[in-house]
Amino acid sequence: MTSAKTLEELRQEARQGGGEARIAAQHAKGKKTARERLELLLDPGSFHEIGMFVTHRATGMGMEKSYPLTDGVITGWGKIEGRIVYVFAQDFTILGGSVGEAHGRKIARLIEFARQNGAPVIGLNDSGGARIQEGVDALAGYGEIFHQNVQSSGVIPQISIILGPCAGGAVYSPAITDFVFMVEKTAHMFITGPEVVKAVTHQDVTFDDLGGAHVHRTQSGVAHFTAPDEETLLMTVRWLVSYLPPNNLTPPPWQPSQDDPQRLTPELADMVPLDPQQPYDVRQVITTLVDNGEFLEVQEDYATNLVVGFARLDGHPVGIVANQPLSLAGVLDINASDKGARFIRFCDAFHIPLVTLVDTPGFLPGLEQEQGGIIRHGAKMAYAYSEATVPKVSLILRKAYGGAYIVMSSKHLRGDINFAWPNAEIAVMGPEGAVNIVYGREIASSPDPQARRQELIADYRARTATPLVAASRGYLDDIIDPAETRFRIIAALEALREKRTPTPSRKHGNIPL
Ligand code: HXC
Repeated sequence: MTSAKTLEELRQEARQGGGEARIAAQHAKGKKTARERLELLLDPGSFHEIGMFVTHRATGMGMEKSYPLTDGVITGWGKIEGRIVYVFAQDFTILGGSVGEAHGRKIARLIEFARQNGAPVIGLNDSGGARIQEGVDALAGYGEIFHQNVQSSGVIPQISIILGPCAGGAVYSPAITDFVFMVEKTAHMFITGPEVVKAVTHQDVTFDDLGGAHVHRTQSGVAHFTAPDEETLLMTVRWLVSYLPPNNLTPPPWQPSQDDPQRLTPELADMVPLDPQQPYDVRQVITTLVDNGEFLEVQEDYATNLVVGFARLDGHPVGIVANQPLSLAGVLDINASDKGARFIRFCDAFHIPLVTLVDTPGFLPGLEQEQGGIIRHGAKMAYAYSEATVPKVSLILRKAYGGAYIVMSSKHLRGDINFAWPNAEIAVMGPEGAVNIVYGREIASSPDPQARRQELIADYRARTATPLVAASRGYLDDIIDPAETRFRIIAALEALREKRTPTPSRKHGNIPL
């Protein structure tokens, strides 16, 4: 491209994006411009742009009339809390942020560059999708992006932020990345929009019902984080990044902790009711245990029977996985297994130790679950924990029954340090069911069946399900006082910090999906 303009004039032009009218239209929709978003996301003054002078080289369908600078995507690097991140931000004011050949190449190259330099890549998506005028070159652009996303998976953290439309094949880049953020109202993700849905299925659906932040937060599980506005969403991105290492060869970032690692936690004993049927909120347990009560929950409104998220213990980032007795009694089902396995595998890829809090009656029985494939979904939990070589510390708070005992980071899947509280119950199934099956005839023929059943249940609890049995086999490393929980977990993690576990040589495993 030749130009009579000075470099500075060209830079000014690039910073103007699609011009004042389109910027006003963007603002009128409640959306910020790509450059405004980068300012909010990154440390002040830390952004360095690359590829500002890139333009498309398409002809036909009017494309030869203008060659907007940046080609509708701003790329470069900046800092979050002083640490480098690579970023791209699609500019909806230029050709609707659509992905053409040059636009796609800029993003793909940036992801590759981030991988080569071992820093996270964060994409701000706001795009009409594949640029219609560029045909197969536009599709090629997306293909290159997907390939770089896949090559970077498990090497650098990849974060997608959806701040406008993200339709068609465009959704697959975010889906491959580790975390998807969506802003409410203006962000939409779907494979086909309402018009196509109407034509094919005759259903009338709104943009929001099809792919709004609420749907992806609560039903599909596609969005890991959502927020009502762009500022809050971008602040959450910064919070997430604060837990993550830049790449798979660097340890997660330690921060000095203001919270005493020796702090006792006597309040935990009252938080968890002794009656195994009584619900409680495991998030209270988590915030009591971790540094300063700070816990960043991931997918908090999806598969709420399993809580996952990031926190710090003695300043070191950890991934927490906890059954949630407040929701479906903390059972494991299809969605919880998918959610848990994906989180565990992320932590494992990036050296983030796993702390598992167990209180579950088992896998959810039922036609819907069986027909939906709980076998292959539930298997993911066993696979993910067994495969993970990061430090794994678990604590059984109350119930650990059946297959769920095994898959929740048990010693058998190479949990490193396994604790239980004194009242924990570990068994093939709960006492009522077990006693009915094994002693059914004896109970029926007893003069007082109710009394006999209660007697047998108490005996089962005391002799079979007691954590002492598991501890005597070495399946538990210790039975600890709830008040000592925080410092015992911290001490275990400290002892495991330099853990190295060789894995069998193979191309890759084949996790059930
Ligand atoms: C070229 C596009 C475009 C696209 C939008 N624009 N999408 N240009 N290719 N895909 C342009 C518009 O022509 C317009 O240009 C400007 O961007 C703003 O668009 P508006 O329609 O005015 O904005 P809005 O009303 O906010 O609507 C946004 C929208 C709509 C919902 C995204 O533009 C839309 O439906 N676009 C098409 C979406 C789509 O079907 N994309 C293909 C998906 S399939 P002017 O010059 O008028 O300002 C796909 C396959 C990927 O992506 C496959 C990967 C494997």
